[in-house]
Amino acid sequence: MKFGFFDDAKNEYVITDYNTPLPWINYYGQDGFFSLMSNTCGGYSFYKDAKLRRITRFRYNNVPRDYGGRYYYINDNGTIWNPGFLPVKTKLDSYKCRHGLGYSIFESEKNGLKCELLCFVPLKDLCEINQLTLTNNTKETKNITLHGVIEWCLWNAVDDQTNFQRNWNIGEVEVDDTTIYHKTEYRERRNHYAFFHTNVKHDGFDSDLDTFLGLYNSWVDATAVQNKKSFNSIASGWAPIASHMFNITLKPGEEKTIVFQLGYVENPDEEKFEKLHVINKKRAYELQEKYDSKEKVMKAFKELNNKWTNLLSTLHVKSDNDKFDRMVNIWNQYQCMVTFNMSRSASYYESGTGRGMGFRDSCQDLLGFLHLIPEKSRERIKDIASIQFEDGSTYHQYQPLTKRGNADIGGGFNDDPLWLIAAVSQYIKETGDYTILNDPTPFNNKEGSEKPLIDHLRASLNFIITHKGPHGLPLIGRADWNDCLNLNCFSKTPGESFQTASNFESGKAESVFIAGMFVLYGKEFATILKNIGLDQESANILKEVKDVEEATIRYGWDGNWFIRAYDAFSNKVGSKECEDGQIFVEPQGFCTMARIGEDLGFGKKALDSVEKILTNDYGVEILHPCYKEYHIELGEVSSYPMGYKENGSVFCHNNPWIVIANTVVGNNERAFDVYKRNCPAYLEEVSEIHKTEPYIYSQTIAGRNAKNYGEAKNSWLTGTASWTMYAASQAILGIKPDYDGLMIDPHLPKEIKHASVERIFRGVKYNITINNNATGTYQMLVDGKVINGKVIPFEKIQKDVNVVVNI
Ligand code: GLC
Ligand code: GLC
Repeated sequence: MKFGFFDDAKNEYVITDYNTPLPWINYYGQDGFFSLMSNTCGGYSFYKDAKLRRITRFRYNNVPRDYGGRYYYINDNGTIWNPGFLPVKTKLDSYKCRHGLGYSIFESEKNGLKCELLCFVPLKDLCEINQLTLTNNTKETKNITLHGVIEWCLWNAVDDQTNFQRNWNIGEVEVDDTTIYHKTEYRERRNHYAFFHTNVKHDGFDSDLDTFLGLYNSWVDATAVQNKKSFNSIASGWAPIASHMFNITLKPGEEKTIVFQLGYVENPDEEKFEKLHVINKKRAYELQEKYDSKEKVMKAFKELNNKWTNLLSTLHVKSDNDKFDRMVNIWNQYQCMVTFNMSRSASYYESGTGRGMGFRDSCQDLLGFLHLIPEKSRERIKDIASIQFEDGSTYHQYQPLTKRGNADIGGGFNDDPLWLIAAVSQYIKETGDYTILNDPTPFNNKEGSEKPLIDHLRASLNFIITHKGPHGLPLIGRADWNDCLNLNCFSKTPGESFQTASNFESGKAESVFIAGMFVLYGKEFATILKNIGLDQESANILKEVKDVEEATIRYGWDGNWFIRAYDAFSNKVGSKECEDGQIFVEPQGFCTMARIGEDLGFGKKALDSVEKILTNDYGVEILHPCYKEYHIELGEVSSYPMGYKENGSVFCHNNPWIVIANTVVGNNERAFDVYKRNCPAYLEEVSEIHKTEPYIYSQTIAGRNAKNYGEAKNSWLTGTASWTMYAASQAILGIKPDYDGLMIDPHLPKEIKHASVERIFRGVKYNITINNNATGTYQMLVDGKVINGKVIPFEKIQKDVNVVVNI
């Protein structure tokens, strides 16, 4: 069942039924002010850090209910309704929520009154705009009241929901006839405040939640709204809000627009106050003035649209498969950008109060947006590398506001260092710029410890080389990519973290997955070294790679697939000898991508096993059979009920590895088959089962053993976005940035006979036509001339080129 449709011409997903199975959300913002917006106007805003600078409140444990957001209440002769349906839930005569790239437009109508609400965060300013237009489509004059309301968060989102003995004393506001200022804690150590402003003078306001709602009422039956009035309440402690009320008369056919603006302002310490207790509003006035008319708002909106048109022109495909095209051109790239901004911190499923930026997550995310924003990627690489230690190990996470490693979690995830090589090598391939290797980058953010970035890569590899187990395979540490494979944590205490309570330092538990990574990225680093003339060092690395490759062939192969790991007692994990968890997906993908045992047919066999044992209707499950019982020696992986999360769901992040691996061994049909199985656009028709947004990847889809088989969870912030982007563009379309130029090596399925791709690469536009005649041969013409090999050497390209590839 569908709840909307894709409007590809506008780059929008249009939700036409507000009863979506879960809130279907969107993101706004790019450089500091960020907002989440659901299809019922729910969501929250923050400045840079969703934990430390939360601007509006989110109510936790609140999905699917989704209460709290920007609420516009219309009271039309006793019929009270909201353009986003919630919170009042009055049935609307028509409803559309158009989620676009960085904005949403709500179009609703009730009793002949139309409301259009345009919401976005402008490119250059720290604010969210909500432009609301009411049109009277009836033949009678309408007298209505409009209340526009948001609820402030008391900045620190964790304190805000826990420390009530303090919180309920600190809320402070200032109000004038267009603006409510949230100045909580500004009198002491904060140099920032927020405001909710309108470009038209209000007819009344409230800034105290309890007054606005009325005793024991909720957002559904707010007293102020029901009585078409405002109490002009000034919050003092308790829960400060911002509500503006308007009495509006609309003649037949008349329309009226009001611009609401949620803004954030910082003042230098010496300019904080105008006079005692009165905040300095100079900067707020400037910001308000910038959006005080419909014309100004529409201009900013156009700039936002242009930015996206520009960004997306970097890679654009037109094939004979609409669903593939819309994912590659629009939604997958968009999700990659959102993931760049948010990492895993703020969604409806990540509360924004916990995880900051993950080392491994951020490195992998880069793979998905490097082609869009190479400059920002370089900065991000530096931030990430700066939390690494000199021995190559690294903090697992950092906070975006401070950029310091997160000491509560520490390090010890032994896959982490290698992801840095994945990110840096991809950066060089995309830009051709090796100077990044010289960027002075500190270790653990210590001043004076700066070394060229290349030394960080050396340290990464060296860490693995010096941390191997009894079989010559890399030690796993607290966990590798699979956070829940905790082979050195023997946890019996409820609530204890499986990752940080490593209490059984065996020095033995090994990961075949990290072995695959080491071989793949070790070879990559060796190539980089060779390219910059360090031949001897390159050869040394290849020797190390060979050792791990041999160890994997010897001890990491189970007959029909790669083993997953050796536990603390050197017992196999992910082997036919095990009762449960006989096969895991991760090493099948990575060891095949690394071509380990290629001559022996390992990859092909492993992928056959993946198809036979792990593949379900919605993709490839992470392991099989699911663990029926908790295994203290395996950790969190066996803690989940069967079919969920790491215990046997389709953990979407690793599915593109299987797509890529299939292209590596030449299984083009199977690669595309796996791609389609969990591609959201292909699941739109079964949204009532899938439940999450049909335009966005989710982290997991419940596996065959789960009660809710096929139900997706944790949409938006997942490494699935970047890896799928990589798989679709570089493996299936085969348009691969390479050190010396652009490689074109398509692995299209038979159902895509033709694809035209525009790709801007290092400033040059490549118009690429791929004709898939499934001949099994390969021919490339560049500007009409046949050239040898699959790489178009960049040094020979000066201007836009036309490329034809026949396969
Ligand atoms: C989550 C984590 C990621 C990890 C994955 C598998 O997505 O963010 O770092 O690799 O789970 O456990
Ligand atoms: C990953 C896993 C999750 C686990 C967490 C621990 O996000 O997906 O299941 O609890 O890591 O950090």
